[in-house]
Amino acid sequence: MRSLTDKVVVITGASGGIGSAIARQFANEQARLLLCGRDNKKLKAVAASLNLSHGNCITVTADVTKSSGMKKIIETAYKHFGRIDVFINNAGVGMNKLFIRTTEKEFDQMIAVNLKSVFYSFQQLLPRMYDQGCGQIINISTMAAKQGVPGLSAYSASKAAMNILSEAVASEVRNENIKISVLAPASVDTDFMSNMAPRSRVRSKAARKLMADEVAESVIFLARQNENAWISLAEIRPLLVKK
Ligand SMILES: NC(=O)c1ccc[n+]([C@@H]2O[C@H](COP(=O)([O-])OP(=O)(O)OC[C@H]3O[C@@H](n4cnc5c(N)ncnc54)[C@H](OP(=O)(O)O)[C@@H]3O)[C@@H](O)[C@H]2O)c1
Repeated sequence: MRSLTDKVVVITGASGGIGSAIARQFANEQARLLLCGRDNKKLKAVAASLNLSHGNCITVTADVTKSSGMKKIIETAYKHFGRIDVFINNAGVGMNKLFIRTTEKEFDQMIAVNLKSVFYSFQQLLPRMYDQGCGQIINISTMAAKQGVPGLSAYSASKAAMNILSEAVASEVRNENIKISVLAPASVDTDFMSNMAPRSRVRSKAARKLMADEVAESVIFLARQNENAWISLAEIRPLLVKK
């Protein structure tokens, strides 16, 4: 497995539950980090909690739904570090609402954050990775992209489209030494989940949510894969709690 020491890793949504866990684990591997989100205070708090020197961990506030936001992230990384080894599209929004109550604005927002941001990252990053001769992009999806579930139509559709976009582009760039992977977790114990937990569905008492650190460990595993190995899609589910 390859070492992540000194690798340059960009994490979007680093102010959130899963993103901050990913940042912590890459920091433990002594990677160099660019953390991105919109909430500067939260981002700075995550950066300060990591055991990295200031020069090895920088923060960028940007909105990934805008081409200019993605440009700011990528250009800052290249200006500061000179390269990007691993780019993690983790920023995402969810919503639990019946389709009949979903507005066009809400639908557009799901598509913008969960799909269009990934398009912008591919569009702006792949030419740079071609020039570098290598690179890795890891996109955080969801198990909810596999099946239509009541209340999650917009969320699931945006992530399912992101999966297919990733799969198609991955197959176009794999021979250029560029790996694009999709990681699809089941429910994870973050604010995101508590905001969209369905009230109407009865959950098994034995089921538990994944912890953000368990998702982060899988991201690290993908990033540490040997140069000539590529996991294109990985799913993470919790095991049931033993009685
Ligand atoms: N939690 C789960 O159960 C679960 C399960 C499967 C998959 N996922 C996926 O995992 C990812 C992270 O989720 P999480 O649970 O960590 O959620 P979270 O705690 O709500 O974090 C979401 C992150 O996305 C960022 N973000 C949202 N909109 C953005 C925008 N327009 N521009 C830039 N950043 C933006 C937020 O940053 P700011 O607020 O600073 O902008 C925040 O850092 C998402 O893609 C989600 O779909 C989550």
